[in-house]
Amino acid sequence: MSAPAEVPDLVARTLDLSRQRGFITSIRNETGRLLAALAASRRGTLAELGTGCGVGSAWLSSGAPKDARVVSAELDPALAQDVQKIFADTDNVDVIAGDWSTLEQYAPFSLLFVDVREVMESIDVLADLMEPGGMVILDDFVPSAFWPPIVEGRVDTVREQWLTDERFAAVEMLIDVDASLLIATRR
Ligand SMILES: C[S@@+](CC[C@H](N)C(=O)[O-])C[C@H]1O[C@@H](n2cnc3c(N)ncnc32)[C@H](O)[C@@H]1O
Repeated sequence: MSAPAEVPDLVARTLDLSRQRGFITSIRNETGRLLAALAASRRGTLAELGTGCGVGSAWLSSGAPKDARVVSAELDPALAQDVQKIFADTDNVDVIAGDWSTLEQYAPFSLLFVDVREVMESIDVLADLMEPGGMVILDDFVPSAFWPPIVEGRVDTVREQWLTDERFAAVEMLIDVDASLLIATRR
């Protein structure tokens, strides 16, 4: 993988929190760089479902235009509090403690990063939260050489649905040999 080893300061602080907490499901730097690149093309409100230690929020914030806003929801209140401290001086990021659905009030979104597997099943609700041209990014898939995609002997119906839904133009992107994500742009 060819990319600079350095990461923005805010990202470094969230990675430190991930290490301190032994939190192993933070996004990879490759995913973060993609989020930042996509965020740079956005306006308005960008959202993240499942803040974790704040790594995705930090990458989104690093790429987004100064007048755009990033909102992120984390179900675990203690974790949300730790992340809120990291973003205390970052004006364009709000980390909210609570279920992902608390973010519905901030829709429509120009970008939505979905990082909670169960939430990905709610495609109808998520489609209605997006502005036309808005991008949904869904993380944590395992690349499959088959169609429909098969993981551990079963069809991955969530991935199949997102890649075939008429409301979106969608693509699967390999992040590494063992990891992929989906980008679905609202028509
Ligand atoms: C894969 S981790 C998120 C990683 C993070 N997006 C990042 O950029 O590193 C998933 C997070 O979602 C949170 N979560 C699970 N269910 C949730 C829900 N219903 N609403 C909000 N957050 C939820 C978990 O507590 C966990 O911290």
